Amino acid sequence: MHEGFASREERAALIAELPKAELHLQIEGSLEPALMFELAQRNRVAIPFASVEEVRAAYAFSNLQDFLDIYYQGMGVLHREQDFHDLTAAYLAHAHADNVRHVEIFFDPQGHTARGVAFGTVVAGITRALDDAEASYGMTSKLIMCFLRHLSEDEAEATLDAALPYLDRIAGVGLDSSEVGHPPAKFERVFARAKRLGLKTVAHAGEEGPPEYVREALDLLKVDRIDHGNRSLEDPALVARLAAEGMTLTVCPLSNLKLCVVDDIAAHPLKTMLDAGLKATVNSDDPSYFGGYVGANYQAVADALDLSRDELVTLARNSFTGSFLSDADKAKHMTAIDACA
Ligand code: ADE
Repeated sequence: MHEGFASREERAALIAELPKAELHLQIEGSLEPALMFELAQRNRVAIPFASVEEVRAAYAFSNLQDFLDIYYQGMGVLHREQDFHDLTAAYLAHAHADNVRHVEIFFDPQGHTARGVAFGTVVAGITRALDDAEASYGMTSKLIMCFLRHLSEDEAEATLDAALPYLDRIAGVGLDSSEVGHPPAKFERVFARAKRLGLKTVAHAGEEGPPEYVREALDLLKVDRIDHGNRSLEDPALVARLAAEGMTLTVCPLSNLKLCVVDDIAAHPLKTMLDAGLKATVNSDDPSYFGGYVGANYQAVADALDLSRDELVTLARNSFTGSFLSDADKAKHMTAIDACA
C-alpha cells in the first residue's frame, strides 16, 4: 500500500470521492447482457446466446478484432429511439454512481445506419438520455461521433453529411474500429472538413497500431486528443512531443487488459505515462465487455500500480483539463477536486 494511504479502503474512498470526467466511452460498448436480451425481445432480433452467462463467457478476446466482431453483433439489437435512450441512461446511472460529473461519449453511427437505423433516431435517443442526466444528476456531456476506420473515407464523408442536421448536438468526430492497416492518413480529408465545420477531433491511435499512427493523428488529422496512445511509449521523441504539447491521452486500463494490449494489469503503462509527464486520463472504453466502469478502472490500476494520492488527483484533474468543457467550467471542477485533494 502506498505510504499516502492507510489501507486499500482509504484509496478506494478517495477514488469514489474525486469528481471525475470520462472522456473515452463507447456507448454501444456499455450494452449490458441483460439489456441486450431485453432489446432483442423488444425488437424481435435473434441473438446467438441462450443466457447472460453465455454472453459473458463469449467475452474472452485475444485482440481488438476478436472483440469488434462481437461488439458489432451486439449492437444489432438497437433499433428504436427508446433503445438508444435506455442504453445511454443505463450507462449514465453507472457513471453517476462513480461520481462522474462530465462525460464525452462516442457513438458509431455507421454501425446503425448500415442496418437501416436512421442517424436521427440514434442521436435523438442518446441526447434525450444526456439531457435527462443533466437535469437529474447535474452531469454535463458532449457527444462525439466516430468514423469506422475499416470502412472507406468516402463512407466517412457520407456519415459526416448525414450528421449535418444534428451538429448542434455533436461536439466532435473520432476514429475507431480495426486500427492496424487503417492509418489516420486514410481520413485526412474528412477530418479537415470536420475541423472546418467547427468540430473537435480525436482519434484512436497507438492502441494496437505503431507510434507512427499517433504521429499521423497529430500531424495529418490535427487531433485535440489521442485515444489510448499506449504504443507512443515505444518512441521517446514522440513521448517528449506529446508531453511538451500537453496532449491528453484517454487511457483505458481494463480494456487494455481484456484486449491483450497489456499481459497483466501490473504491467500497465499508466504510471510510466504520468512519470514521463504525459497527460493521461482513466476511462472505461466498453465497460460491459471489459468488466468495469470508470471507478473500477481507477481502482484496478491504482491497486496494481500502487498509485499515490497525488497521482490519483492528477488523473482526475487531467480528465477535466483534457475535456472539451469551457475554461470556466474546468475551473469549477478544479475547485471541487481541490476540496478533496
Ligand atoms: N470500438 C469500440 N471499442 C473500441 C476500441 N477499444 N478500439 C477501437 N475501436 C473500438
